[in-house]
Amino acid sequence: MTAPARYHIETWGCQMNVLDADKMSGALEAAGYVRAESAAAADVVLLNTCSIREKAAEKVFSELGRLKPLKDLRPDVVLGVCGCVAQQEGEAIFDRAPYVDLVIGTRATRSLPLLVERLREGDETARHVVDVELRNDSIHFPFDRIRRDITGAGKAFVTIIEGCNHRCTFCIVPQTRGREVSRDMDDVLDEVRALAERGFQEVEFLGQTVNAYRDPQGRALGDLLRQASRVAGIERIRFTTSHPAQMTDALMDAMAAAQPRLCSYLHLPVQSGSTDVLRAMRRGYDREGYRAKIRGLRTRMPELCLGTDVIVGFPTETEGDFEQTLSLLEEVEFDTVYSFTYSIRPGTVAPTLAPDLPEEVKFERLARLNALQKTVQERRNRRWIGRSVEVLVEGPNRRNAREWTGRTPEARWVHFEGASAPGRLEHVLVGQASAYSLRGEIIGGA
Ligand code: SAH
Ligand code: F3S
Repeated sequence: MTAPARYHIETWGCQMNVLDADKMSGALEAAGYVRAESAAAADVVLLNTCSIREKAAEKVFSELGRLKPLKDLRPDVVLGVCGCVAQQEGEAIFDRAPYVDLVIGTRATRSLPLLVERLREGDETARHVVDVELRNDSIHFPFDRIRRDITGAGKAFVTIIEGCNHRCTFCIVPQTRGREVSRDMDDVLDEVRALAERGFQEVEFLGQTVNAYRDPQGRALGDLLRQASRVAGIERIRFTTSHPAQMTDALMDAMAAAQPRLCSYLHLPVQSGSTDVLRAMRRGYDREGYRAKIRGLRTRMPELCLGTDVIVGFPTETEGDFEQTLSLLEEVEFDTVYSFTYSIRPGTVAPTLAPDLPEEVKFERLARLNALQKTVQERRNRRWIGRSVEVLVEGPNRRNAREWTGRTPEARWVHFEGASAPGRLEHVLVGQASAYSLRGEIIGGA
């Protein structure tokens, strides 16, 4: 008997990409493949790519350059490009890297094993195949096939909606992920129960606009949260990413009702604090509208921790607009901010509104924003000192192997010493706080 063929997947980008890589692994393993430790040890090498900003998108070509010597040495290795760059670029990938064998888009994972098999059997008609059809049935990927070991121990990502129907003028996602399609809620709940039976304690529902979820029977995210919070064994529920325009009162009520199993943390990307910029971005809300959502959430859940995404240096952003963003961060006091300098994406509207700002301007604004946010986070994180927090352990602290690292329900990182293991829930008494993490002493299992 010949040894089974080995595959290797490199993935970068958002949580949906991480989960897509687990689906690709599952699809290949169902067809008899086994995982290889590295690209050099593999017969099939796949790059699962991200195109959200130019830098992420360009990464695929540097990775391909790195893999070229391997492909020259062993031409029988199947080399594929998947994910958002594959979806976006299609055939054009071969112009820059003709040694790539196949290009598979974001909703074509299930054709992967067959195409790979044909290439391995020497079927020349399978070479340079591009499958970028945006299929609606990709949402029905059989969940028992997902190979779940990329995310931390004890926690699992669960797709509930794919695609995005918004048209934010800076964003490439609607092109790379297609229109929204939601999964049947009963199927989602079956998956949640199956995960609980396998010992998972945390589930995170995923979608580009997760709060737009509406299943074929009209059930919304709030209904799902209520049901999922009753599944025995699931201690923590999260969902990401929400769109502020679709953060309805009904959803806020359901969130409050689903606590404490629904974690007290919400990621709600604001992008800018300036109403003019928000309008140019076509975000569908203004500064005041966003603040009203935050008030609605904090009225119902006073302890809720908040995270957001901000883009600095959008083409129309003036110094005054940027200062509006700073003042919003001061007012809201987010616990976490992911900030990005604006990056031109092909096929989007924003570049037609105004010329790109100089990179120095963007980076200077980013540095000011990060400095302000650091002081906000130091202040926010100090509130935890002296309190006992529940930590789901992810693994050893990467900077200090004597310590464990995990997250609280509020998505705070906590480091602590002592006997524990990945996947365990521990109680930790917080002694120190910095802008980015907490440190404390273990006071027992949860
Ligand atoms: N709904 C999505 C948003 C996807 S992109 C989600 O699931 O998170 C993630 C973040 O990247 C956005 O919120 C935005 O802040 C940032 N981003 C998107 N397009 C960008 C661009 N062209 N330049 C810089 N940042 C961008
Ligand atoms: Fe992108 Fe806006 Fe959708 S940021 S993912 S187009 S909500």
